[in-house]
Amino acid sequence: MSGGFSQQDANGRLRHLITLDGVPRALIEELLDRAQSHVTPAGALPPRGDDLAGWTVANLFAEPSTRTRASFELAAVRLGADTINLDVMLSSRAKGESIIDTIYTLQEMQVNVFVIRDAEPGIHEYVARHVGPGVSVISGGEAHLSHPTQGLLDALTIRQCKGGFDGLVVTLVGDIRRSRVARSAHRALSTLGVAEIRIVAPPVMMPEPAEFAGARRFGSLDEGIAGADVVMMLRIQQERATGAGATDLVAYHQDYGLTPARIERAAPEAIVMHPGPMNRGVEITSDVADGPRSMIRRQVANGVAVRMAVLAHVAAARGRAP
Ligand code: CP
Repeated sequence: MSGGFSQQDANGRLRHLITLDGVPRALIEELLDRAQSHVTPAGALPPRGDDLAGWTVANLFAEPSTRTRASFELAAVRLGADTINLDVMLSSRAKGESIIDTIYTLQEMQVNVFVIRDAEPGIHEYVARHVGPGVSVISGGEAHLSHPTQGLLDALTIRQCKGGFDGLVVTLVGDIRRSRVARSAHRALSTLGVAEIRIVAPPVMMPEPAEFAGARRFGSLDEGIAGADVVMMLRIQQERATGAGATDLVAYHQDYGLTPARIERAAPEAIVMHPGPMNRGVEITSDVADGPRSMIRRQVANGVAVRMAVLAHVAAARGRAP
């Protein structure tokens, strides 16, 4: 956050959620507890509530999305909100309208929450600084920098599977340098007290030394995965590549792909995660992605619960009943 701007209100509640940086552990745990209350057993009807009754939530996605966009919409609807899904590339922004004019236009239609995904760093804070006093901004993904609800749903999935965070070894593998998922996972898990976070990547996908404070760095997947309790695989963000040529996917899979043989080097009860979308046969084989250690589908289910929790929290912070 830049000078003078805070996503939290005077009471420490989230008016906006743009980043997990600076969000205290107690507040993250509160959001995870609230999300857990929205998790229902397989086969049960999805939970519903009226926390957002009368509110309108607008999804403004300027980058592709399946999971985040659909789950924010379901979360909002299940809490009683009206929703708008604006495909930004098909909106009047394609005719030159500025994002602020788009925001002001939708504000006049009484939108209360903007969920924004955008490739431009800083756009979420910029919008949050310009919205009206009763309006919130939630990030659905900001460039390579931040994906806070993904970080929360990853933490929730780990907590469900491991019972907590004490003593865990968590290994993040792949295109860490360009991954907002990795940055938000690192932030969430550091705040929650994970003992050891490892990042594994080829040199070209390794982040700058100043980033990922405290994480152990590995160039070898076999070494970085050894004894890990959680292995989180990441997609190559080819769409964010600048200058360098395309990655040799066959060689990448050879060195960094998660296979049944490789996962055996992790802890005996290790789980496998992936935020999606997956490139099967590149960073992960289908036998692992669909195997018994995989929590990838559970992550998707938890995504709805986490987004319900965040929307309900923001609504409560704005004066609606919790
Ligand atoms: N994990 C994630 O952000 O997926 P989508 O791009 O499909 O939203």
